[in-house]
Amino acid sequence: MKFFLDSAHLPDIREAAQLGILDGVTTNPSLLSKEEADPVAVLREISKVVDGPISAEVVSTEHAGMVEQGVEWRRIAENIVVKIPMSTEGLKAIRTLREQEIPTNCTLVFSPTQALMAAKAGAAMVSPFVGRLDDIQVRGMEVVDEIVQVFSNYEISTEVLVASIRSPVHVADAARIGADISTMPWSVMQALARHPLTDIGIERFFADWQKIQNR
Ligand code: G3P
Repeated sequence: MKFFLDSAHLPDIREAAQLGILDGVTTNPSLLSKEEADPVAVLREISKVVDGPISAEVVSTEHAGMVEQGVEWRRIAENIVVKIPMSTEGLKAIRTLREQEIPTNCTLVFSPTQALMAAKAGAAMVSPFVGRLDDIQVRGMEVVDEIVQVFSNYEISTEVLVASIRSPVHVADAARIGADISTMPWSVMQALARHPLTDIGIERFFADWQKIQNR
């Protein structure tokens, strides 16, 4: 499974890139609004740090505006993927950008039918938001499982990018289900590597090694 960082914060992205397991980055207007620098400059810098796909979201709600903004984002770097919110206008924009060979990530997906439509329109990725589904007491991972099953039924190559991840459990469940990508906050990515028994084991090995040193 590919690991993406859900962030526009360059210090975190640079640190995550050093782990050697970072396959891409997803941003959105909310994440970009947290940064001081201009979004174009932020996205350009991210695209230099990470070779993999960097998602940049359009804010227009109309087909023409989405395409225009998508083309602008894509001009920043060859690894920019245009994020398009799920809607009928969004489907048109996904189709148009696909015809221009500009890859898209259909975002704010909350059902298997939305995911299927986005894939049929030509999206390279679909982003079901598991955390926000959980927030309204809908089991987000069950929706991901259904999407993965539907895409498998029809041998759909569009990648399932699990988003709105809030915990390591979400990442583990996404991997178990067979989703293609998990995009997660830096705090979650750091938590994946930690386990209390590992910490205890390291302390015990260190203490026992000290006994040898103190002989
Ligand atoms: O990539 C989408 C993600 O940033 C949304 O996360 O926690 O605001 O639902 P959240």
